[in-house]
Amino acid sequence: MKKYKYRILITGVAGFIGCHLAKKLISEENIVVGLDNINDYYSVSLKKDRLKFIEVEKKKSETFRFYKVSLEDNETLRKIFNNYNFDIVINLAAQAGVRYSLQNPSSYIKSNIVGFFNILECCKEFNVKHLIYASSSSVYGLNSTLPFNEDQNVSHPASLYAATKTSNELMAHSYSHLYNLPCTGLRFFTVYGPWGRPDMAPMIFAKAILDKKPINVFNYGEMSRDFTFIDDVIEAISRCCQKIPTRDEQINGSQISSSAPYRIFNIGNNKPISLNYFIELLEKNLQKKAIKNLMSSQPGDLNSTYAEIDTLSKWIKYYPKTKIEQGIKRFTDWYIQYYSESL
Ligand SMILES: NC(=O)c1ccc[n+]([C@@H]2O[C@H](COP(=O)([O-])OP(=O)(O)OC[C@H]3O[C@@H](n4cnc5c(N)ncnc54)[C@H](O)[C@@H]3O)[C@@H](O)[C@H]2O)c1
Repeated sequence: MKKYKYRILITGVAGFIGCHLAKKLISEENIVVGLDNINDYYSVSLKKDRLKFIEVEKKKSETFRFYKVSLEDNETLRKIFNNYNFDIVINLAAQAGVRYSLQNPSSYIKSNIVGFFNILECCKEFNVKHLIYASSSSVYGLNSTLPFNEDQNVSHPASLYAATKTSNELMAHSYSHLYNLPCTGLRFFTVYGPWGRPDMAPMIFAKAILDKKPINVFNYGEMSRDFTFIDDVIEAISRCCQKIPTRDEQINGSQISSSAPYRIFNIGNNKPISLNYFIELLEKNLQKKAIKNLMSSQPGDLNSTYAEIDTLSKWIKYYPKTKIEQGIKRFTDWYIQYYSESL
């Protein structure tokens, strides 16, 4: 009889990061259950196509199940936890996006606070061995010391989105401390690649460049982002599934008590790229010039993000491999193919 490694729940599985992660963890012979409410924050058909992309694997094995459910639906969530006895839970479902948190703040409280609380309660009740959850580089907020490292104070968020992510880290710490729930929080830094998010710069810019429409370039292009290619992020999360934090090891972060099996890591590329260079690479790969609408910064935006990644790299023995030039090519190749097929 075939022996599977772990029973893993991925929430937000129809999302950008979730679909790639599901594919990877299925290929590593885990039993993967995916959950997502397929909300209409952005294209529902893109989310459904991502599910088809995952389910290519399903033809080969019966190791993937999908449930359309919201994190706020505690009753259904408990039934799923009860049925599967998960070893690992990876919580990616959230209301993402900094700018949208100024327009629709309540959706952040529902998904990111109430929803995350339900996940913590289920992990506690059903004795999950490891909770891995998405945090964000946005927790660094008004910090101005670069690169950002996990020891820095994160009590100055610049948006409600960031505040919910910092809250998740604190909530996870309390459950980790009180109930001995091993927790790993991952602060993602601007993830990009195939199947990306239409509300993020790579997709917004690619669409506008191809449609010959102007792009809004905030802070006059004087911004930099530590763009991290999706495959590097997925490899890092997969490696985190192989390691469980314990109470007794030395813990990064002076503000983090060592009385809990709890870790927080940056997942970045450690090589910030200026917005102007990033646009140049898109232009080169799409073979069209951008029409730039230079503007001042938007409320909530950080001017620069730059991740120190030594702590994570030591923990999982992995450094990101993808250069921005290769990553943008992979992204634009997918973009052109996907949108020409779906026309
Ligand atoms: N992509 C990035 O660059 C980035 C950067 C920092 C942090 N993050 C975090 O990583 C996680 C995944 O990001 P992503 O880029 O894949 O986002 P995404 O929006 O593509 O995926 C999130 C998925 O969660 C689902 N979802 C949202 N609220 C839900 C709820 N209440 N119940 C069930 N499903 C729900 C959505 O339908 C979506 O498919 C998020 O928590 C996000 O905040 C992402």
